[in-house]
Amino acid sequence: MIADNPHEPPAPPAPLRVLVLFYSFSGQSGGLVQRLIAGLREEGIEVRSERLQPAIPLRFPVGTIPRTIRMMITTLFRQRVVILQPETPSPDDYELVILAGPTWSFNPSGPVLALLDQYPNLLRGKPVLALISCRGYWRRHWCYLQGRLRQIGAQPLGPLVFDHPQAEPWRTIGVFLKIAGTAPERSPLIGRVYRRFGHNREQFDEAGRLGHTLGQSLQQGAIPNLIRLP
Ligand SMILES: Cc1cc2nc3c(=O)[nH]c(=O)nc-3n(C[C@H](O)[C@H](O)[C@H](O)COP(=O)(O)O)c2cc1C
Repeated sequence: MIADNPHEPPAPPAPLRVLVLFYSFSGQSGGLVQRLIAGLREEGIEVRSERLQPAIPLRFPVGTIPRTIRMMITTLFRQRVVILQPETPSPDDYELVILAGPTWSFNPSGPVLALLDQYPNLLRGKPVLALISCRGYWRRHWCYLQGRLRQIGAQPLGPLVFDHPQAEPWRTIGVFLKIAGTAPERSPLIGRVYRRFGHNREQFDEAGRLGHTLGQSLQQGAIPNLIRLP
């Protein structure tokens, strides 16, 4: 038997493991999540990430203006988008869950709502750090999400909120047209004032830095409550 050497400093606490569950319709939350995960991994954190899979895949862009309006209205009433069972074997292996996705009509997106209804066990008893990608209106989304997380026995943390940096009314018009299937950033009319859909490079870089900050705390065995508001 090998006795502990009393002169050796105690081993640092084992880093905590992170599970990332996310949904992304048009790639923005997905991009932020990838950068956040890269930052975490560069700090030596073990991360498992899984994109929520709608049982009937959703197509981006939606394709027409009437279909886009329909989606905006149904999501206003928090219509769930049934998802397939996530492949994550056991949430017990993870001490922190990051739950990321877009705002849909002032609410969490349909797949995230479905996750909360269908698979609450993945979140129950866990600290859950929320990451929200939105055009600009996230407060009701966060308020509802916090309430649902508490209801199922999870501990809401955050939020990390990223809005679209373009000026109004162009960002609203731009998002609508992008979802409908036109490319507003390439339109000769709108493209002059709306050069890019979604988040900018600084925001993606910031997501990476937040991953580092979070990773450094997790390496010390602590789960910080990081908040990032637009
Ligand atoms: C159906 C629908 C409704 C939306 N409603 C809102 C909203 O109420 N508030 C907001 O800020 N953004 C809203 N958006 C914009 C998205 O939140 C935003 O474009 C986000 O960056 C998309 O993230 P994703 O690419 O990961 O799906 C909506 C988008 C869709 C598709």
